[in-house]
Amino acid sequence: MRAITYSRYGGADVLELTEQPTPKVGADTVLVRVRAASVNPVDWKLRQGYLDAIMDVRFPVVPGWDVAGVVESVGLDTPELQVGDEVFGYVRKDWVHGGTFAEYVSAPVRTLARKPTTLSFEEAAAVPLAGLTAYQSIRRAGVTAGQTVLVHAAAGGVGGFAVQIAAALGATVVGTASEANHEYLRALGAQAVTYGDGLVERVRALAPDGVDVVLDYGSPDAVATAPSVLRAGGTIASIVDAKARDELGGHYVWVRPDSADLAALGALIDDGKVGVEVAQVFDLADAAAAHEASASGHVRGKVVVRV
Ligand SMILES: NC(=O)c1ccc[n+]([C@@H]2O[C@H](COP(=O)([O-])OP(=O)(O)OC[C@H]3O[C@@H](n4cnc5c(N)ncnc54)[C@H](OP(=O)(O)O)[C@@H]3O)[C@@H](O)[C@H]2O)c1
Repeated sequence: MRAITYSRYGGADVLELTEQPTPKVGADTVLVRVRAASVNPVDWKLRQGYLDAIMDVRFPVVPGWDVAGVVESVGLDTPELQVGDEVFGYVRKDWVHGGTFAEYVSAPVRTLARKPTTLSFEEAAAVPLAGLTAYQSIRRAGVTAGQTVLVHAAAGGVGGFAVQIAAALGATVVGTASEANHEYLRALGAQAVTYGDGLVERVRALAPDGVDVVLDYGSPDAVATAPSVLRAGGTIASIVDAKARDELGGHYVWVRPDSADLAALGALIDDGKVGVEVAQVFDLADAAAAHEASASGHVRGKVVVRV
């Protein structure tokens, strides 16, 4: 099969289009014919070697953890899925090797759910990792109807899903982004504030008593400013800074593959409560450009790769 691979850590130039053996299909696993994948910041962080201390890596690596595609064959015991099923998934395995930037990926059934029927494959591939991160961190922080929630990096892959999920739960949402993204945040269901100097005052102007929950999806200022924007008894969840847990008594969340959560997210999408923003679609051969687009740090929504 054709796949993007890298055989050493480095810049986007280590990515190459190569021929690889089609993956074996384990007992609790299905082979997915990949129609689309998407880029997450973890993909280029892994490629640069930043996660070497915590994840085993077997070269050559096929990058990519997000997939949307069709079940091509099934393992010995996979009653959840049949050949021909359209699926999407966050295919993170216990080691880094066989990812989704390829014509086929072997995916444990725990990583997959049925693709939302209202989405194209390209839109569906944009959902799993970022959407699950939003979903699981909102649950961990205990967001409920009537609360006010501050979402940092609200225009990004994770933040865009979080704004919509929190709003669907009945929370009032304030999101941080550059001004170019304020109209976009309002369309998602948030009030928008600019990040940087004066953030605390801008948030306090919208929520004079403080917010109930801070959700940090990539702001360098979120932990430092949280005590000044949270009401007494409020909490913070961060996906980028463990100080939210270790110093503020809040939560640090690392997204886990979970079929049930992914199916619940799919239902929110098919019910029209959560939409998907695709910023750019690249061909598989242009994976390096897709990684670089994500690494710019200012993507609105998601970068997708069609296979
Ligand atoms: N722990 C986990 O399980 C987990 C899961 C997913 C992601 N992550 C991490 O979380 C971070 C976000 O992921 P992502 O996929 O959402 O990234 P992303 O899509 O690349 O985020 C881009 C967004 O960040 C915004 N942004 C940039 N600087 C900002 C700042 N100082 N304050 C507020 N917003 C800012 C940009 O908005 P503007 O263009 O308006 O500036 C842009 O919309 C990454 O570091 C990623 O590695 C962790």
